Amino acid sequence: MSEPHKTVYVGMSADLIHPGHINIIDIARAYGEVTVGLLTDEAIASYKRLPSLSFEHRKKIVENLKGVSHVVAQETLDYVSNLEQLKPDYVVHGDDWRSGPQKETRDRVIKTLGLWGGELIEPKYTEGLSSTALNKAVQEIGTTPGARLGRLRRLIAAKPIVRVMEAHNGLSGLIVEHSSYEHGGQVTEFDAIWLSSLTDSTAKGRPDIEYVDRTSRAQTINEILDVTTKPIIYDADTGGLTEHFTKTVCSLERVGVSAVIIEDKQGLKQNSLYGTERPQELIPKEVMCQKIHAGKQAQVTEDFMIIARLESLIAKQGLADALDRAQAYIEAGADAIMIHSCESELTEINEFCKAYQDMAGKVPLVAVPTTYNQVYESELTEMGFSVVIYANHLLRSAYPAMLKTAESILKHGRSKEADADCISTKDILGLIKD
Ligand code: SPV
Ligand code: MG
Repeated sequence: MSEPHKTVYVGMSADLIHPGHINIIDIARAYGEVTVGLLTDEAIASYKRLPSLSFEHRKKIVENLKGVSHVVAQETLDYVSNLEQLKPDYVVHGDDWRSGPQKETRDRVIKTLGLWGGELIEPKYTEGLSSTALNKAVQEIGTTPGARLGRLRRLIAAKPIVRVMEAHNGLSGLIVEHSSYEHGGQVTEFDAIWLSSLTDSTAKGRPDIEYVDRTSRAQTINEILDVTTKPIIYDADTGGLTEHFTKTVCSLERVGVSAVIIEDKQGLKQNSLYGTERPQELIPKEVMCQKIHAGKQAQVTEDFMIIARLESLIAKQGLADALDRAQAYIEAGADAIMIHSCESELTEINEFCKAYQDMAGKVPLVAVPTTYNQVYESELTEMGFSVVIYANHLLRSAYPAMLKTAESILKHGRSKEADADCISTKDILGLIKD
C-alpha cells in the first residue's frame, strides 16, 4: 500500500510501453500517489527520434495504466520546473541514468528534491528492455502511409529545425533512414527525405528539365517508400498544369508522401542553381495562387502540405517581388514557403528572412543552402527557418567516388587498387537484409 498523502513523480516518454515502465510505476505507487510527467514530442525530439505515437495518444495510454493517478506534460528533458510546481515527496527513475547523458538531469533532480526534503528512488534498470531497441524493431517492421504522412507536421511542431536529406533510390533512402551521429548522448539524424528532381533526373542520366515524367518519378518514390519510414518531401518542379498538379497531390498523398513543393516558374524548367545563366521565367503570381489553391482543394487529409517555392531571387526579380508573392501564396493556402537563392553569400536570404518575420499569417520557412553552405543549422533556426534541405549531397558525393574507381581500373588494368575505396563484398552483401 502507498504511504498516505505522499506524492511520487515519474518522468517518461512512454512511446512503446514495456514491462520496464510497469515495474517503475508499480514501485512508484508503493511510495504514494503517482503523477507521470509525460515528455512532450518537443522534449523527446531534443535528444532522440520523434516518438511514433503523438503526445495525445501516449497520454491516453499512460492515463489508463494501473497505478497512475495523474499525467502532466514535461516540456523539457529537465525535470526542475515540473518538480518545483508539484513538490513531490519522491521521484522514481531507473538507475540507468547514474552515468551517461542523463547524469546531469539526475543531479538536478536530487538538488531540487533536496529543497523540500524529497527523495530520489532508483530501482534497478530492467536489463534487456530498452525503448531504443524496441523502436528499432518497430522501424524494421515499417510504417503506414498515414503515420508517415502526418510525421512532417509533427516534426515541424516539435523541432527547432527539421533536417532533410535527398535520396534518389532505395540505397540512398537507406542512408537517409539509418545514418546517425552520436555525441555526448545526443543522437543527430536526418528527419525526412527530399525527393529532388535534380538528383532523381541525374541518377537516371537525364537533365533536370521536367523530362523525367511523373510515372518514372513515382517509381523512385515507391522504391524509397519500400525501405524507409521517414517522411518524404517531393520536389514537383513547377507542378505542371493545374489540372495535372491536383492529380499529383492525390497520388502523393495516397502513398504517404507528406509534402509537395512547387516552384513559381513556367516554360522549360531550368535548375535554379544556374541562376540567370539560363532563362528563369516566373509564372504570374495569380496563376501560381490558383495552382496552390487547387492543390489544397484536392488533398484529402489535413496533414498533407503544399509548399510554395519562391524563385524571385533566382530570377533576379528582387526582394519586394519575393515578399509580395510569399504573402499571396500564403493567402492562397500554402502550408510553408521555400525561399531559394543561388548566391554564395547570405545577404539576400537574410533580407528576406528579416522582412518575412512581420508577414501576416506567416507559415514555416524552408531553406535549401546549397550555394550558401557555410551556414550552420543553428543560424538558419535563428533566421527563422523551420526546415533545412540538403538537396543533392548524396548523389554529388557518390559520383566522384564512382568515377575514381572506374578510372583506377582503366589505369591499372585490374581492380586491386580500386578495392581500397570500395566497401568489401562481404559488407555489401550484409548491407541489405534478406
Ligand atoms: C532539387 O534538388 O531538385 C531542387 C533544388 O529543386 S535546386 O537544385 O537547388 O533547384
Ligand atoms: Mg528540383
